[in-house]
Amino acid sequence: METAGIDAVVVPAGNAGVYFQDDISPPFRPNPNFAHWIPDDGTEHCVLVYRPGERPHLFFHRQADYWYLPAAVPDWVEEAFQVDVGADADALATSAIDLAARAGRVAYVGPWHGMHNDKRVAVNPKALLSHLQHARAYKTDFELDAMRHATDLGVLGHLAARTAYFDGASELDIHLSYLRASRQTDADLPYPNIVAQNDHAGVLHYQHRNPRPPSQRRSFLIDAGGRHLGYASDITRTYSAEPDAFAELVDAVDEKQRALIADIRPGVSYVDLHESMHRSIGELLARFGLVRCGADAAFDAGITDVFFPHGLGHLLGLQTHDVGGWIAAPDGQVSVPPQRYPALRLTRPVEARQVFTIEPGIYFIPQLLSAAKERYGREVAWSRIESFLPYGGVRIEDNVLVTANGVENLTRPAFRRLEQAAN
Ligand code: GLY
Ligand code: MN
Ligand code: MN
Repeated sequence: METAGIDAVVVPAGNAGVYFQDDISPPFRPNPNFAHWIPDDGTEHCVLVYRPGERPHLFFHRQADYWYLPAAVPDWVEEAFQVDVGADADALATSAIDLAARAGRVAYVGPWHGMHNDKRVAVNPKALLSHLQHARAYKTDFELDAMRHATDLGVLGHLAARTAYFDGASELDIHLSYLRASRQTDADLPYPNIVAQNDHAGVLHYQHRNPRPPSQRRSFLIDAGGRHLGYASDITRTYSAEPDAFAELVDAVDEKQRALIADIRPGVSYVDLHESMHRSIGELLARFGLVRCGADAAFDAGITDVFFPHGLGHLLGLQTHDVGGWIAAPDGQVSVPPQRYPALRLTRPVEARQVFTIEPGIYFIPQLLSAAKERYGREVAWSRIESFLPYGGVRIEDNVLVTANGVENLTRPAFRRLEQAAN
């Protein structure tokens, strides 16, 4: 705030709004800058005011209502904040700005709907937001506890989903097993589950849940997480129905993913990790006979981009794709990804207390393959590709914490522990 010349900050939780010409709302998700202070989804229309040296002030929205259960101020919030309760959301926002303005220059950090057209307020000033976004990457012990809990929820769901898959369940039934085991509703999830059988695994963010199992079961990719106190886990596993060549490919991607994680420590470059994974993907393409050229040639010619078209991973926290991945310094200096990898969400230096995902994949995506056919007609082994197309693809995703001199995988030990506990 000092660097940005700001004396007080107003942070609204925001509101979900209603669908057009309707009285139904999508699930509410608080502004993450607000959730950073008060990690609670029951805070729609609440507004926080922070002035350095003062107890933070919460304008809590609560209205008498017999259609919905009115929100209650959590006990810990009563203790930590100066709380004012009000029923009129606009009046609360105005009171918050009035209070902040007494301190001097005010920054408003959150969704701005223009209704408080107030000249005293700087709306989402970049100088402040860059600092906040940069800082969000370093997790406190409290945040790490929440993320470990979110990991356990996700892993419980994954274990149940795996059992459901091998019992022959449909995408829909696997999804329902996941929710039940992870004790979450759809609205609680950090992001919509990706529950993909067979070629659906080649749709990166596949969004449907087929209620019927496929007649032939080949592969299963599940990308699903947990959320606790607003903090996310983001986990992907892929399975082959049979011990076939695709099963070997899954194991090979898994091995490359683990090997790469072992190299992470403060000071390494995430862009280098991403590029090194592309080289590994080149190796696997060659090893599995998917290209006729060698591993290096597949990397150099850009063929690996066809099979691994997304980034290696992203920061993780209050948002699944957490902010600040390109912000290399608190002043907002941006580190853009190399031209070859525009989808890479994390380019800043790797430092202790960051949590991010490592999620390599190899996919057989008809759209990308047909676009590549002319360019790589000779280098790619097209008939071999045909045999993998019905499997869709592989992704293996873990969440890692960078420690003072290495890395801690948050995901794998949770699988081991919860698997053991279930047996
Ligand atoms: N589940 C979204 C992602 O892995 O980035
Ligand atoms: Mn994911
Ligand atoms: Mn991810």
